[in-house]
Amino acid sequence: MVSKPRFKLDDQSAITPDLANKALFGDQPDSDPGQLTAFKGQLAIILEIAHSEFVRSVAAGKVIERLAYNLHQLRNQAGPAIWKILIPIAQQHPVQEYLIQDPFTQWSFEKPRGYSGDATLLDIYYQHKSADEIVAAATPLGQEIYAYTSNAASSVAGRERRDILALYVDRVATRNSSAEILSVACGHLRESEKSEALARGDIKRWVALDQDPQSIVTVMENNPADIVKPIQGSVRGLLRRSYNLGTFDLAYASGLYDYLPTKMGAKLLVRCWELVKPGGMFMFANFSDEIQTDGYMETFMDWPLILRNEADMQEIIDAALPDNEIKSRIFYGSNRNIVYAELTRLT
Ligand SMILES: C[S@@+](CC[C@H](N)C(=O)[O-])C[C@H]1O[C@@H](n2cnc3c(N)ncnc32)[C@H](O)[C@@H]1O
Repeated sequence: MVSKPRFKLDDQSAITPDLANKALFGDQPDSDPGQLTAFKGQLAIILEIAHSEFVRSVAAGKVIERLAYNLHQLRNQAGPAIWKILIPIAQQHPVQEYLIQDPFTQWSFEKPRGYSGDATLLDIYYQHKSADEIVAAATPLGQEIYAYTSNAASSVAGRERRDILALYVDRVATRNSSAEILSVACGHLRESEKSEALARGDIKRWVALDQDPQSIVTVMENNPADIVKPIQGSVRGLLRRSYNLGTFDLAYASGLYDYLPTKMGAKLLVRCWELVKPGGMFMFANFSDEIQTDGYMETFMDWPLILRNEADMQEIIDAALPDNEIKSRIFYGSNRNIVYAELTRLT
């Protein structure tokens, strides 16, 4: 059986698993022992069904679809105090030996870069060519499961997010021939491959900041050096004003707020707002609380996210910015798995 890896703390980061855990599960009261036993029983049945279906070679897509749905329902019914106890129980079940063959599940669970949600994990579900080898190395069953997980609604929404970012960049660059762009927690900056303005060289500078040096090298190798300026830096460094960044027509954070408790998210927004020029824009995205893959992600992928809705996004904005400085729009992507906040700086 695969043992759960030890989580390496990212000491450059203002984001720690402890903070995220607190935001996800809070200080939950003790769970009711009777209820806990009942939910443990339900979990055992769900996992046994999936396990026996894998043993009988039922189509992997069907197995995983049902499993993910059942875990989602169980998570909702159990509530945070009990769900928190169920997560490690699920992770130790023998069905894990099948699920871990999926390169997406495996990368997420094993965390080769030492933290959750690294840019290679995103390449895997972006179906990016750089992940082809990782996918090809998987077993046939693993590839079958991957065909499902990489096309689950949350993965589709992630790819749409990348495309939406490129559209925002292109729109700003069309209005302004010397546009300055900032990506906070840029990962591999895959949206740059979709940007027509970048392909034409119609952007003055695109600063890409991330704490992970491997991601910074990837960004450097894959983008024009005269425009894209990678910086190895962290949210903590940003908050401490450690980098001389200048100001931007568009700044955005994608795949970052999902790890930030509200208070930290608001702090970061205040800081990013200082980097936005009058008339400029800040955008942040967050996986929504309507996703159905949450139970699977938190158990077999060991990838907990802080899920948000429109009101939660508004709460961050209200905590950070005075009304009279902003024009805001909150919207969902096409399958409502990701929610976006677009903030225009009026003054
Ligand atoms: C889920 S990926 C998102 C990558 C990219 N923005 C995208 O949407 O594809 C999260 C990224 O956040 C970066 N990250 C996590 N914590 C960070 C921190 N405290 N400061 C800077 N970057 C951070 C990670 O290194 C990783 O590249």
